[in-house]
Amino acid sequence: MSPTWWRRGAVYQVYPRSFADANGDGTGDLAGIRSRLPYLEALGVDAIWISPWYPSPLNDGGYDVADYRDIDPRFGTLADAEELIADAHARGLRIIIDLVPNHTSSEHRWFRAALAAEAGSRERGRYVFKDGKGPDGSQPPTNWTSVFGGPAWHRVDDGQWYLHLFDPTQPDLNWENEEVRSEFDDVLRFWLDLGVDGFRVDVAHALVKDQSFPDLETTGRLLGNSRQSNHPHWDRDGVHEIIRRWRKVLDASERDVMMVAEAWVHPDRLPLYLRPDEYHQSFNFDFLETPWELAPARAAIDRAIKAAVDVGSTPTWTVSNHDVMRHATRYGLPGDTNWRTWPLTGPHDDLDPVAGLRRARAAALLLMALPGSVYLYQGEELGLPEVWDLPPDVLDDPVWENSDHEQKGRDGCRVPIPWTPDGPSLGFGTGDPWLPQPPGFGALSVASQTGVDGSTLEMYRTALGVRRSYLDDDESLEWEELGPDVLAFRRGSGVVCVVNFGIEPAALPAGDVLVTSAELSEGRLPTDAAAWVL
Ligand code: GLC
Repeated sequence: MSPTWWRRGAVYQVYPRSFADANGDGTGDLAGIRSRLPYLEALGVDAIWISPWYPSPLNDGGYDVADYRDIDPRFGTLADAEELIADAHARGLRIIIDLVPNHTSSEHRWFRAALAAEAGSRERGRYVFKDGKGPDGSQPPTNWTSVFGGPAWHRVDDGQWYLHLFDPTQPDLNWENEEVRSEFDDVLRFWLDLGVDGFRVDVAHALVKDQSFPDLETTGRLLGNSRQSNHPHWDRDGVHEIIRRWRKVLDASERDVMMVAEAWVHPDRLPLYLRPDEYHQSFNFDFLETPWELAPARAAIDRAIKAAVDVGSTPTWTVSNHDVMRHATRYGLPGDTNWRTWPLTGPHDDLDPVAGLRRARAAALLLMALPGSVYLYQGEELGLPEVWDLPPDVLDDPVWENSDHEQKGRDGCRVPIPWTPDGPSLGFGTGDPWLPQPPGFGALSVASQTGVDGSTLEMYRTALGVRRSYLDDDESLEWEELGPDVLAFRRGSGVVCVVNFGIEPAALPAGDVLVTSAELSEGRLPTDAAAWVL
């Protein structure tokens, strides 16, 4: 796939806590990931994105980093990371790691030093410390809210406040400070030297804050609240200077490395992040947030392609990750459901899991057929549903507490992967998994689906294989009109992807059927199904 593997790669996201547990402590680890590399190679992906593996109190699943140059002992050691990278490379798999630059953990040595130091000190200057409002400074400096709920400021013993756009244990770094900037240049170099092939940059639209610290006119807690123009802490123009600096560090490595942005910004602003001297690519949340309907899906595809192509980048496609409800469940809910609150509020009989899985499989074929790269989330190749009914006492996501129990949070998509139909933790490990697996997970395990014709796993494997052979070289896409309820397009290689959004079975164009998401009925494509024809 060199030299531009990332332009068309299939990237598989591993959430290390939940992928495979080699030492039996109930939490996944690097040795576990290593032992499953043959599985990923056989699945046919090109790269693995590993969510944070750094030392961390795991208050936010590792997105609270205490040391950017090491591995959490629960996950392994730096030597394990090197071996994992080497093994992956030997199998032709690239490794992308997570960079979390907006905030550190409150356990990071810098933050401990900041707490021990006084107002105005160099130590506090690495974070965003400010005096409060009101005569005694007891009011937070602004009305900003945390993404997880509650105020974005926390008061320390001497009366100052520090900013945390996420959990209070995730203090925001001060990106006005050159020491912070050069530290991250160095962190990038550290991992490039260790052999990683890329970085997924966490909340890439944050970092820079309006230094006049104005109040927000409206506050909201979802990541989507970044879609307001001239926002004081999301998507500020100053962030591009930082991105260019990182890009220079990557370019200086003279290896085929990349960085992909997690930027929840207005689709019109996204191309700015993709200019030739900035990110190589960015996640496309626009499509993820689109309901399962033909016209919006087609419009979102057109928007993403145009946005990327205009700046010489490639589109990316994803429908699931560790932050959102698994799409096999999302697509089983009415299109206007707020799936972040639905697990608590219901109505739960709105869920049609059969339709959800059907659409999830069709969506997978649709996305894998599009030009650009595709980001898959561990377990989607098994058709795993969201475990939306986890009991409150096992919830670990800080969203649960920070939202005053208004949202259960993201644990339902982080339940450990079932590898076998039975046995302790369904083959995830030998100990009790850190989140319980529901009944029904065993039947969806890797072993249960391997070699089974028509299983979701075999559909992914086939599609990834076909994608490699036929959909690699040419980034063009041409829409085909096959009927009002049918979305269809032709790729440069001649492969036609057809998706039936209608109720009635749809006719397929003439040719060999390479893969389908559902069995054809008398040669026709059933509702909510996709097929590739050559
Ligand atoms: C990103 C991560 C999410 C995390 C947040 C704070 O959105 O994907 O899991 O909670 O950033 O780091």
